[in-house]
Amino acid sequence: MPPLARYPYLYVPGKSKEHSKPMPIQATSKIWHNGNLIPWEQANIHVMSHVVHYGSSVFEGIRCYGQPKGSAVFRLPEHMQRLLDSAKIYRMEIPYTLDELCAAVVDVIEANEVAPCYIRPIVLRGYGEIGVSPKGSPIEVYIANFPWGKYVAGQGGADVCISSWNRLAPNTMPALAKAGANYMNSQLIRMEADINGYVEGIALDVNGLISEGSGENVFVVRNGVIYTPQLGNSALSGITRDSAIAIARHLGYTVSEQPIPREMLYIADEVFFTGTAAEVTPIRSVDRIVIGDGKPGVPGDRSSSQGWKSGEITRKIGDEFLGIANGLKPDRFGWLTPVKVNAAQPASA
Ligand SMILES: Cc1ncc(COP(=O)(O)O)c(C=O)c1O
Repeated sequence: MPPLARYPYLYVPGKSKEHSKPMPIQATSKIWHNGNLIPWEQANIHVMSHVVHYGSSVFEGIRCYGQPKGSAVFRLPEHMQRLLDSAKIYRMEIPYTLDELCAAVVDVIEANEVAPCYIRPIVLRGYGEIGVSPKGSPIEVYIANFPWGKYVAGQGGADVCISSWNRLAPNTMPALAKAGANYMNSQLIRMEADINGYVEGIALDVNGLISEGSGENVFVVRNGVIYTPQLGNSALSGITRDSAIAIARHLGYTVSEQPIPREMLYIADEVFFTGTAAEVTPIRSVDRIVIGDGKPGVPGDRSSSQGWKSGEITRKIGDEFLGIANGLKPDRFGWLTPVKVNAAQPASA
């Protein structure tokens, strides 16, 4: 018998080759902190900060896309409103208005001149007192941006599993708040998937119904109808989820937000993830059960555009989403906030 690894419970390199590629953060020049742009390397917090011990942060993940002329942030006000909502749930008073926060995002992107990019606003409870009560620990607001590529791997569709970890139960950790602490649960889901050779895990809610991926919302297509879990199934109210629903309805599809049993994924015609990081990612298999004919609709893939084929609805929604985000289709829903930075890479949909 081969000797046991020293840390057998840790990640096993080589299990899921595609997914396990490291994605180191690429530093930019400035980070926005409480109203000022400070050097990237000076955006530090003390180890005794409240957030380090008790997970007291709320944050956002936003993408800025390259356009044929310049760049644009995707659904900036909606993201910053969700940040304010997350903070409200945790009684964190952010001393900035929605407009000020949106302007700060534009400022930091323009100062760093980095686009396309990922934007990470975070509000945290800083250095003050050691007690669990957050009273006496100051609120700190930071906004960083940096280049970031594809999040969920899987050329031709992601192979995912149902996690043995449930998503947060209602009235424990609020799922509608995008709080740093929720991502301890996400890490368990993601690490388990990784170690078992899947690119991502889908968690059930406390009642055994589909909830969401570790960092994505889930959609299921069957007989031409699109289904997604309700927010009451412990799912985050994803901005991309909302965008996919709007696009699908605009394209004439029926979208139903409803409880979804696990087995509905196995017999679906199509399954896909949505998320700022994942964008629209088709899923090829769940628990090694092939979805549809195993040919998911990859956005941008023209080979499957003749007639109705498996994956067609995913591809159409993904194409429209990327088309709008990259400025190649009309911004019919008013989702883009322009920034004055020329895209470093050519846009593609
Ligand atoms: C747990 C979870 N669900 C869903 C999503 C998708 O949300 P959005 O489309 O706003 O990025 C994310 C990503 O932020 C997430 O972390």
